[in-house]
Amino acid sequence: MSEMDSTRPSPVHPEDNALLEVFIYGGGKVGRGLARAIRDAGLRVTLRPARDGLPSERIEANFVILAVRDRDIAPCAEALRDRGLVGHRDVAVVHCAGALGPEALAAARGGRVSVAQMHPMISFASPSFAPFLERGQLHIDGDPTAVRAARSLGVCLGMTPRTFPGLDRVAYHAAAGLVANGAAALAAAGVDLLERAGIDRRTAAEMLGPLLRTVADNVEVLGVPDALTGPVRRGDAAGVARHLEALCRLAPHLVPFYVAAAATQLPLARVLGEAPADAFDAIQRVLDGIQQ
Ligand SMILES: NC(=O)c1ccc[n+]([C@@H]2O[C@H](COP(=O)([O-])OP(=O)(O)OC[C@H]3O[C@@H](n4cnc5c(N)ncnc54)[C@H](OP(=O)(O)O)[C@@H]3O)[C@@H](O)[C@H]2O)c1
Repeated sequence: MSEMDSTRPSPVHPEDNALLEVFIYGGGKVGRGLARAIRDAGLRVTLRPARDGLPSERIEANFVILAVRDRDIAPCAEALRDRGLVGHRDVAVVHCAGALGPEALAAARGGRVSVAQMHPMISFASPSFAPFLERGQLHIDGDPTAVRAARSLGVCLGMTPRTFPGLDRVAYHAAAGLVANGAAALAAAGVDLLERAGIDRRTAAEMLGPLLRTVADNVEVLGVPDALTGPVRRGDAAGVARHLEALCRLAPHLVPFYVAAAATQLPLARVLGEAPADAFDAIQRVLDGIQQ
């Protein structure tokens, strides 16, 4: 594990970026999203889909990103070593998995090859739609040389590189999944409900996207619990009861979702304290009532 203990961007030498030649193995959602961003940042980048197999020639790049599925990372590192595709020049090899450390690349490490985890805390949902990386967070951990190169790349992409020694990677990845994948599932529930309320699915998604963006901005700028809005924060038990009545009528399968979300909001709303305690107790009774 790296000794680096910085949660802030490290100083980056401008010439580091100019010297980066990137090879990405894996043309899925992350591979293509990163390739687009790296190209847009003015760096040289080659993308090779994994379904084409590893190249037969040595890889002429000094920064290799393995953007393959988690289970393929270690075998891929072994294949890079066994076929002598890296190691003839100084190179950093990184993977993008959130739950795996640099040791997943141990087979390739050594000599002129340094390795690191480089996980963008960004949601890449489609190979044909590159998400906005600026102000995104990049968790980097591994050999000092690879970490330095990855931090340099991250800054070049407008991202904030961070290293957290001793991080519980699985918990870290679970938190990222809870928020990113949970939000997509919540949005699907919202689209479903808006459709039942009379709005077509495409329009519903177009309406919920900007709503989610404002939530994201509130979380980033205000933090939690301050990012919370809505009837639970306001202590509006009657409003919550009306929502549940509509859900029971139009979409009963979404009631448990709503109840779980409201129950999670209650302690936040109590901390914010914008209504008397008995207003929050009344919301709790509404939620308890629906569960019986
Ligand atoms: N998606 C995210 O939001 C996200 C965020 C942060 C980190 N990551 C990490 O980034 C890495 C890559 O994730 P990803 O989301 O880019 O995965 P992905 O879209 O599934 O692509 C990964 C690999 O799977 C292959 N693949 C895609 N569809 C396939 C199919 N139908 N049949 C066979 N192979 C197929 C691709 O092959 P080709 O190369 O041939 O196209 C690609 O090499 C993982 O380690 C993941 O944990 C993902």
